[in-house]
Amino acid sequence: MSDFRIAVVGGDGIGPEVIAEGLRVIEAAGVSLDTVDYDLGGARYLKDGTVLEDKTLSEWRELDAIYLGAVGAPGVPPGVIERGLLLKMRFDLDLYVNQRPFVLDGSHNFVVIRENTEGTYAGEGGFLRKNTPHEIATQGSVNTRMGAERCIRYAFDLATKRNNHLTLVHKTNVLTFSGDLWERTFNEVAEEFPDVETAYNHVDAACIYFVQDPARYDVIVTDNLFGDILTDLGGAVSGGIGLASSANLNPDRLAPSMFEPVHGSAPDIAGQSKANPIAAILSGSLMLDFLGATEAAQRIDVAAKACAEVTGSTSEIADAVIAKL
Ligand code: IPM
Ligand code: MN
Repeated sequence: MSDFRIAVVGGDGIGPEVIAEGLRVIEAAGVSLDTVDYDLGGARYLKDGTVLEDKTLSEWRELDAIYLGAVGAPGVPPGVIERGLLLKMRFDLDLYVNQRPFVLDGSHNFVVIRENTEGTYAGEGGFLRKNTPHEIATQGSVNTRMGAERCIRYAFDLATKRNNHLTLVHKTNVLTFSGDLWERTFNEVAEEFPDVETAYNHVDAACIYFVQDPARYDVIVTDNLFGDILTDLGGAVSGGIGLASSANLNPDRLAPSMFEPVHGSAPDIAGQSKANPIAAILSGSLMLDFLGATEAAQRIDVAAKACAEVTGSTSEIADAVIAKL
């Protein structure tokens, strides 16, 4: 009897290499998975045009989680895989929280809660008079009260389980509509969490603090695009994107959640056993934690972080993690 049924999308480039090691570490931690492999990503698209079919999403709804490596391949036009696979997955399964934890020099850790279904990612906008000198392109930021509130509420709740500190990051001085909605919602939800100390940073200032004083943060909540950018910066200031893990969560558990490293498919180093599997391994730990296998998740988390400096081939780094379990 396996513990969980998991859809595995190794994807492109280094994706399958790092996910294979992540699965090996999970088994070594004593959790048995029943995996279903899905050949999806840029390479599959180039082969037969398939991106992500509705019937695949229906199959996933019967499973416990999705474990994804990285998608994206040279030769695929921008947006096809991003919108057609990754965003489709996030939107269709309503994975409205993108949780991205970071560790600074092995001790202080903080976590970014990125709204994952709205903002500039929603797809609002279009062209007028395309390919004329008067061409117009708009790309609106869609912010619903419900969408902001559920994400903010999740972040407050997480703050109570950590150190009772939550920072809202936005750009309220310029984005006076969406920023206003976010700030009002944040302040209203804050009243329900009197023990949580709150702070606010404009996103540009937050970029400075990420570099100069990231230890001021514990939990951050922000919108989709700011969260995208800030979490790459978070990776860069906390030991590199090779260590950055993420959980795309449906906190209400109405659909399976998806777990993936923040890094991309890195086609330049694919197939050479050069990829660091730590981010994928830590994403596996986030998956087990969310599924309730908290003890194994914790052991993997500690072992993987202890191996943050280990060098070697992809499987040698995973071996080092397994040795520490
Ligand atoms: C990420 C990625 C994606 C995003 C891309 C690949 C669509 O950069 O997960 O951070 O922008 O969300
Ligand atoms: Mn990104």
